[in-house]
Amino acid sequence: MNTSSTEHKRGIFSSNWGFLLAAIGSAIGLGNIWRFSYMAYDNGGGAFLIPYFVALFSAGIPLLMLEYGLGHREKASAPLAFAKLSRRMEWLGWWMPIFVMFGIMFYYQVVIGWCANFTIFSFNLAWGSDTQDFFLNQFLGITKGPGELGGLQGIIATATALMWFVTWFITYQEVHRGIERACKIFMPVLLVTTIILVVWGLTLPGAAKGIEYYLKPNWGKLLDFKVWMAAYGQIFFTLSISFGIMIAYASYLPKKTDLVQNAWIVALTNCLYSFVAGFAVFSILGYLSYSKGLPIDQVIKSGPTLAFVVFPEAISKLPFLREVFGVLFFSALTVAGLSSGVSIVEALTSAIMDKFKLARKWIVTALCMIGLFGSLIFTTGGGLFWLDIVDHFLNQYGLVLAGLLECLVVGYVLKTKVLRNHINATARVKLTWVWDFMIKYLTPAILLVMLVRSLYTELSKGYGGYSVSALLGIGVTWLIATLVTGIMLSVYPWETSRLKTDHVPESDELFK
Ligand code: ALA
Repeated sequence: MNTSSTEHKRGIFSSNWGFLLAAIGSAIGLGNIWRFSYMAYDNGGGAFLIPYFVALFSAGIPLLMLEYGLGHREKASAPLAFAKLSRRMEWLGWWMPIFVMFGIMFYYQVVIGWCANFTIFSFNLAWGSDTQDFFLNQFLGITKGPGELGGLQGIIATATALMWFVTWFITYQEVHRGIERACKIFMPVLLVTTIILVVWGLTLPGAAKGIEYYLKPNWGKLLDFKVWMAAYGQIFFTLSISFGIMIAYASYLPKKTDLVQNAWIVALTNCLYSFVAGFAVFSILGYLSYSKGLPIDQVIKSGPTLAFVVFPEAISKLPFLREVFGVLFFSALTVAGLSSGVSIVEALTSAIMDKFKLARKWIVTALCMIGLFGSLIFTTGGGLFWLDIVDHFLNQYGLVLAGLLECLVVGYVLKTKVLRNHINATARVKLTWVWDFMIKYLTPAILLVMLVRSLYTELSKGYGGYSVSALLGIGVTWLIATLVTGIMLSVYPWETSRLKTDHVPESDELFK
């Protein structure tokens, strides 16, 4: 990918394969293993899977097509793409990459840092026999709540700083090919090590109970809005929807690209991978429940720690090559996280370059420095609580609300038919009116009902045992501060020529 120039030439992926690799690299990350597993666990295992797949088909895939179509049609990063539709909606194009960069990315890098730490721990299986105690007390140095920070944890802060440095290095020098190459090696490593863990996990005593918990639908829980909200939030997170990334990446695609096919490939590969990884997680949870004599839903004390409790446990129990396996698994997870992190920085960088014509190196340096400072709070003893609150708010309200607004802008400002014609011009299997119906009515209606219900419940009853004031103070303030920044950036005028469009012909000509 060549995003260089201050002359705003848009680079083009050398092939569709290059795009797919970058899009899948952005999608597959910590969300597939770390976040998916604890979302499924916290929301009752089998109770989560049905809403998860419903969310994939009712919002994930239609919105992925929308973002690909928009980026490809307008050949622009998110703010410029929205500004071309209506100057009054440009703020949405800023808000998305801003709250992702100055929110999700702050703690995302810390979790990548945890993975890097665990790569080192794997050399001598430093986590010992009680992986939960090791993670919570020795590694995180956890405090009693978000109000008690308890100082920086040295090794976490160091690993996080290193991850920021690597991210800076890759985006600064535009050595995306480096990360693409690393992904080509590490993605298969991640897949193979995960499959080995799945097979191994299934042989452990108690595994069957864990798998039953994972797969057996809990129909009663389907009435719980919290589970649905979590599933939609997870789909947005895992597919990198409402991040501004997919709009920017699609803008680098050649004209002749089958966007519909790409959306299916990225979405299904990504979600299938999470689903498969879930077998490893839940079989090991079954084993832990069996060995500790606790019900499955009481084995793990805090959801976000789950992956770092169950995977070390499984690695320690492997019959041979434990250390090598641990290093391979956690280093592959680190690279998968980095490839997603790089795409987050890239989305905001290309947006700022599009509008302010600043040099890439200055933008990237400033973003990564702010990012590092922002991450520090999550490396403290109270960081896990902050992570939990910020992650909850930015995903379930930020990403979902932004997705809802994207539907409305495309549905009523651009008109779905216009975007559908553009997408269909190069698609082998064409989108029909069903997609229009989803983007204009169904998807926004579902998202709206869930947002309102969930916000009402949480503001009256709280979330996860945190006080309403902690939620308002941390979560809501974060959303509003990023929104105001987005609005301020959108007020600055564009060069008129930048708002002109040069659309791909909306016909089947391209395939003739
Ligand atoms: N989509 C990325 C992930 O799942 C952010 O980790």
